[in-house]
Amino acid sequence: MNNLLIRGAQVVSPTGISRADVRVENGTIVTVAAGLVPEPGEEILEATGLHLFPGVIDPQVHFREPGNTHKEDLESGSRAAASGGVTSFLEMPNTNPPGTTAEMIRAKYALASTKCHVDFGFFIGATPDNLEELNSCPEACGIKVFMGSSTGTLLVSERPDLERIFGNGRKLIAVHAEDDAMIKANKDRLGDTATLQDHPYIRSPEAALKATTLAVELSKKYNRRLHILHCTTEEEADFLRREKIEGLISAEVCPQHFLLIAPEIYDKLGTYAQMNPPLREARHGKALWKALVDGVIDCTATDHAPHTREEKDKGYPLAPAGMPGVETLFPLMLDRALNGYCTLPDLARWMCEAPARLYGMVGKGAVKPGYDADFTLVDLQAERTIRNGHLQTRVNWSPYDGCTLKGEVKKTIVRGKVVYENGVVVAEGRGWGLPLKFDPAWERA
Ligand code: DOR
Repeated sequence: MNNLLIRGAQVVSPTGISRADVRVENGTIVTVAAGLVPEPGEEILEATGLHLFPGVIDPQVHFREPGNTHKEDLESGSRAAASGGVTSFLEMPNTNPPGTTAEMIRAKYALASTKCHVDFGFFIGATPDNLEELNSCPEACGIKVFMGSSTGTLLVSERPDLERIFGNGRKLIAVHAEDDAMIKANKDRLGDTATLQDHPYIRSPEAALKATTLAVELSKKYNRRLHILHCTTEEEADFLRREKIEGLISAEVCPQHFLLIAPEIYDKLGTYAQMNPPLREARHGKALWKALVDGVIDCTATDHAPHTREEKDKGYPLAPAGMPGVETLFPLMLDRALNGYCTLPDLARWMCEAPARLYGMVGKGAVKPGYDADFTLVDLQAERTIRNGHLQTRVNWSPYDGCTLKGEVKKTIVRGKVVYENGVVVAEGRGWGLPLKFDPAWERA
């Protein structure tokens, strides 16, 4: 079944680019070498002139199922992923009801297996009192802790509760690091006078740094694997540069936090630019980009958080926070590379190798024998314009509407099967996606 020979592509890895053929048997890469001779019955994919990346991984998305499927569901979200070259995603538990029990997370895996186009993993959500559940869900890719409240009801803001979660168990903890009390105090101070332009000061850099500092302290105290989701401030980048311990603590950044810059972006997009943690001024964006380039920040993600136009049009402060992004992640980063900000191998490291390594995903993140045949095949010569109304996400809008980007995803391949090509997600019956496997040995003792 599905034996494939990809011929003549420029294969991109974190260490370089080289022209090679890639042989795939039963969804697994078996050989990467120049000049492979086709075998009988093998499907041939001519890729001369194209670049072949390991499948891109988005380690932070919100696909809204159960409870808010008018915004997105696992099918539409994974379709958006496939169309953006994303072959695996990790999904967040702030659904309705929130995913806070092992049983709910298992049900989500079972549901995803019936309709996802790409491979998937799910976080379990922490509450002040579900420690037992957190520690009885080996399937989850990690524990999500909202230290500051955002969309949904999940929140663990008190230190004793955080101590208990960090101090018991081994699974990776991924934190939304914003200090809830500081946010509340800022909100109360401004009261009814607050406008959208105040959003990044209500959810202030100090609030982000305070929560990140506490999470790092607890990670070190309990030797507990910590991932800081969507860093947004220069202060956090500086702090992590000093304090991060490789192998114990990792961090991510979303492209919108260095591409969409306040205050102008709020004038341009209104509440469509509202998200948590917020879009901020240029100094933060510059520091975050530098931290990514320097390896202080390990990987990219989107925090794909779709809300409908009707919901966004409610105005500040009623509009919900969040913006879609899973299908524009790789195109935006490719454009950035093709404009000279970074290299193509950097993309393979930040978007493929690093997320796979940080979460202990088995068989993901590299074009090497023994790995899953997940690929993002791109044409560097093409261009693509992002347009509202022409997207796969159910909400069908993007903060990048009208942007023309260099490079284009031509095919997305998951375990040897083309799931997206030339603008179309190739759906057949039940989805092709499978649960990601996580290496238990990678969890820290
Ligand atoms: O802006 C955000 N939206 N930040 C989050 O943390 C949650 C997300 C959502 O789910 O809407």
